Amino acid sequence: MARRKLVYEGKAKILYEGPEPGTLVQYFKDDATAFNAEKKATIEGKGVLNNRLSEFFMTGLNNIGVPTHFLKRINMREQLIRAVEIVPLEVIVRNFAAGSMAKRLGLEEGMQLPRPIIEFSYKDDALGDPLVPEEYIIAFGWATQQDLDDIVALALRVNDYMAGVMYGVGIKLVDFKIEVGRVWDNEFMRLIVADEISPDSCRLWDIQTGQKLDKDVFRRDLGNLTDAYTEVARRLKVLPGNGHATPDKPTLIN
Ligand code: TMP
Repeated sequence: MARRKLVYEGKAKILYEGPEPGTLVQYFKDDATAFNAEKKATIEGKGVLNNRLSEFFMTGLNNIGVPTHFLKRINMREQLIRAVEIVPLEVIVRNFAAGSMAKRLGLEEGMQLPRPIIEFSYKDDALGDPLVPEEYIIAFGWATQQDLDDIVALALRVNDYMAGVMYGVGIKLVDFKIEVGRVWDNEFMRLIVADEISPDSCRLWDIQTGQKLDKDVFRRDLGNLTDAYTEVARRLKVLPGNGHATPDKPTLIN
């Protein structure tokens, strides 16, 4: 039955071997997890929305010269990406206090931070992705100081782009997480944005009402997650026609 070789299965996505060397097919599942997979559900339509939204953000980033792994969308749940060597860090950018930062520091959620704050978690599910200082990252060889300087610059460019795009449709970008991967062009190593950018990995609040339009709807049982993601897609005009996640016909990859 399987027509492609499975390379990796994560909580929300599956990677298959791509049609050409150096490429992979990224498949978006409907599965949602929170609190290190303690809470789980299947949310119909989430994968389709995240595939579309990640395509939208990564295409925009590529177009303004911020390199990403995204090559093209293949069908409603799959996109072609560049294979990268993932840096084992979650790179979190925060504009307003929320989530774990608000909890850790006793801050009120929504408080504007004096400047964007970047933090790193070590990607390890068994450990619950612990927050790590730069000292650890360099000492354990997960990235060099030069890599970290490049990652910070990349993350801030993503932040400016995402915050601007969201502001344009009445949404506040509270915080987000990206992952970064290494690619080699001949001898030259570059760091590019990888994984996904979607409401699964951002906090998005309606500017007028404060309504949450991201995965916190699932984490905190605030309502229907697909409705929230559909609203983001509708505002960005990512979905065709009536604003429902009516996908286009699947197309075969060659
Ligand atoms: P946090 O406040 O829970 O640390 O989350 C910060 C941002 O990172 C938020 O936008 C949600 C995102 N995030 C992920 O994408 N994956 C994760 O596993 C976690 C914990 C957070």
